[in-house]
Amino acid sequence: MKPPHILLIVGGGIAAYKACELIRLIRKAGMTVRCVLTEGGAQFITPMTLAALSENEVFTTLWDLKNETEMGHIQLSREADLIVVCPATADLLAKMAAGISDSLATTVLLATDTPVLAVPAMNVRMWQHAATQRNVARLRDDGVTVIDPDDGAMACGEFGPGRLPEPVAIMERIEAALARPSGLREGQGLPLYGKRVLITAGPTHEPIDPVRYIANRSSGKQGFAIAAAAAALGADVHLIAGPVHLPTPPGVTRIDVETAREMAAAVDAALPADIAILVAAVADWRTADAADQKIKKTGGALPVLQLAENPDILAGLAHDARRPALLVGFAAETENVVEHAQAKLARKGCDWIVANDVSGDVMGGADNAVHIVTAQGVESWSNLPKDQVARKLMEKIADVVR
Ligand code: C5P
Repeated sequence: MKPPHILLIVGGGIAAYKACELIRLIRKAGMTVRCVLTEGGAQFITPMTLAALSENEVFTTLWDLKNETEMGHIQLSREADLIVVCPATADLLAKMAAGISDSLATTVLLATDTPVLAVPAMNVRMWQHAATQRNVARLRDDGVTVIDPDDGAMACGEFGPGRLPEPVAIMERIEAALARPSGLREGQGLPLYGKRVLITAGPTHEPIDPVRYIANRSSGKQGFAIAAAAAALGADVHLIAGPVHLPTPPGVTRIDVETAREMAAAVDAALPADIAILVAAVADWRTADAADQKIKKTGGALPVLQLAENPDILAGLAHDARRPALLVGFAAETENVVEHAQAKLARKGCDWIVANDVSGDVMGGADNAVHIVTAQGVESWSNLPKDQVARKLMEKIADVVR
C-alpha cells in the first residue's frame, strides 16, 4: 500500500522552524510530505530547508505552478491524504474561515475536500481575540480539525495559550486524523460525538487587594482529566478553568477565568450545552469591596473583611431555562460524605453529585475515591487515579445520554 502523503502548509510565524522537526517526524513515520511555504513563512525559513528535509520540490506562490498539467494547485491537494497547516497564523485561519483564496496556500485550502488539520501558533492576545475564536469555531463547524495551542512562554515575551504544540504531539494528531475513516470528522463515530459538554475546574480567586485573594484549595486535576476524557469520547468540550497551571487537554476549548463571577459569566456565555459537569471549587464568598491598593499593615487595628456571597453556578444552572439535559455537580466533604452529597443533590437541583472524601490527601493528589449519588441510589468506586475516575465517569455519562 502507498504510504500516507501529507501536504504541509507552512505559515508565517516564528514557530515555522518547528515545521522542520515535524517534517522529520512525518518521514520517520514512513510517510511522504510536500510543502507549500507562504510568503510570510519564507520570512522565517527558506524553501531550501523544506526541500532538503522533505526531499520534494517546495511551492511558494501560485505562479510557481508553471505547468498546471504537471502540478496544479488542485493536484497538490488531490495527491495528499491529509493537509496540515503548521503553523496556522491568525491571518491564515481568518482567510480559511472566510474562504479567501489570495495565495497558493489559501487557494489549495479552498479547492480541496481532503481533511485539514490546522495547528495554530500566535501571540496569546491574537489567539484569545474574539475574531480568532470565532474563526476557529467556524472552521471546526466546517469540519477542519483545529488543535488548541499550548500554554507557556512565547517568543514575543508573553505567557499564555498560543505556543505551537510540540512536534511529537502534532504527529500524534496527524496519525489520529489519518486513522479516521474518510469523511468522518474528529470524534465522529465516538459515543459523545455531537454533544456539547461544559466543564468548570480549578479554584476561583477572589481578590482582597491587588496582591491577596480568597480561594479554595483545588489543583484542577480532576476537572481537567474529565475534560480530556470527554474529548476522547468525541464531545465538543468547553472547559472553564479557574487559575491553575495545567496544560489544555487536546481538542478542548478552554476559557480561563479568575473569580466566581467571571466563571458564572463564562458558563452563561458557553450555554447551551447537552451536559454540564461542574467540578470547580468555587469560593463561596468574595470581599464585598476589593481594595484598589495593597492594604498596609498599620500595626494597629486589624483589617476587617466584609464578605459578599458568590453566585451558586450549579444551582443557577439547575433552574435556568437552558438547563443541560444532564447536570453533574461535585461535592468535597470531610465527613458523612454520602449523606451530605444526597442533601446537596436535592438542594442544588442537579442530576448527579460526584462526592469525594477530601479528609485525606485528595487535594492536588493523583488519586480519588468517589461516590456517584443520584436519585436512583449510590455507586461507590474504589480509590483510582484521577484520569481513571474521569474515564469511568464519562463512560457512565455516555451510557445515559446516548
Ligand atoms: O456548595 P458546594 O460548594 O459544596 O457545592 C459543590 C458543587 O457546586 C460543585 O459542583 C461546584 O462546582 C458547585 N458550585 C458552584 N458555584 C458555587 C459553589 C459551588 O457551581 N458558588
